[in-house]
Amino acid sequence: MKVCSTAPGKVILFGEHFVVKGAPAIAGALSLRAKVCIEDRVGGIEVVSMDRGWRMEFGRNELPQLRQFKRIVEYAVEEGYLSGVKSFRACIWSRIPVGAGLGSSAATAVAFTASLLEFHGVSYGASDVWRVSLEGEREVHVNPSGIDNATATYGGLVLYRKGVVRRLKARLPKEALLLIVDTGVERSTGRAVKHVLEMYERHEGVFKHIYRAASSLVSEALKAIRGRDLVKLGELMQLNQGLLRTIGVSNSSIENIVYSAVKLGALGAKITGAGMGGSVIVLTTKGGFSAILEGLKPFAKGFIPAKIDSRGYTVLFSRNN
Ligand code: PMV
Repeated sequence: MKVCSTAPGKVILFGEHFVVKGAPAIAGALSLRAKVCIEDRVGGIEVVSMDRGWRMEFGRNELPQLRQFKRIVEYAVEEGYLSGVKSFRACIWSRIPVGAGLGSSAATAVAFTASLLEFHGVSYGASDVWRVSLEGEREVHVNPSGIDNATATYGGLVLYRKGVVRRLKARLPKEALLLIVDTGVERSTGRAVKHVLEMYERHEGVFKHIYRAASSLVSEALKAIRGRDLVKLGELMQLNQGLLRTIGVSNSSIENIVYSAVKLGALGAKITGAGMGGSVIVLTTKGGFSAILEGLKPFAKGFIPAKIDSRGYTVLFSRNN
């Protein structure tokens, strides 16, 4: 038997970092996806990364990359989803760049979880996939808010707060184009989150106001999305970027891209994800797209024109096929 599942990467449109301490955030699923196929095997559990070229067995040659998958299996047993674990091989493919703030580990964890539950013939729903996969994400980042896994599970535009996921009915206006710009600066989400939480502790009196502003910003962004107001959405992205700079996760590469994008006619631009490097998202329309892309080339390592994909996780071959 072989079961394959896919799940999307994500962009956070508003509210990263603030979401870790309970503020709301809005994220969108990307058309870039990870795929995990699970098939029968004799003699234990093996995980293979087809893109990165590693192959590991549970209980034998374990490296840190294996931790999130091991934790997902353990948690699925602890929570009673699986009464026993069969031997299997999981093969992973991903088109989502790693360490770029695009939710690659969450997408892999979600696709792995869906395939694992399906492979064992368990009855489950999206909330189970989200919950179990998030336990794997906890092995990758300290204190994940859960937004990456929620977006990879449900797809489309997601409003997320304190473990509550609301899939938005509204979509971005058709004329909206999002350009993901890779700063080329590698960073760790865990380190960025830790830095912000430490700053919060040191300056709580000030930070609580910044966090309140971030929550208001998300309410306004929801109105702008529902009202199809791209100009307002762009301005709110600029405000959000200002808050992210204030809490210490921007740097000169990011600021150069944001500043240049707006100078080149973008409606707005901001960090997406943990910052300190990683990716910037630029909001524009068809008319402005090429000029922005050309103008940003000196500052960027790469570009991904992004579309919000309505699909969350999907199981490609169910066990009955
Ligand atoms: O950079 P990413 O894709 O790992 O996104 C992190 C988003 C944060 O809000 C900074 C952390 C979180 O757990 O929500």
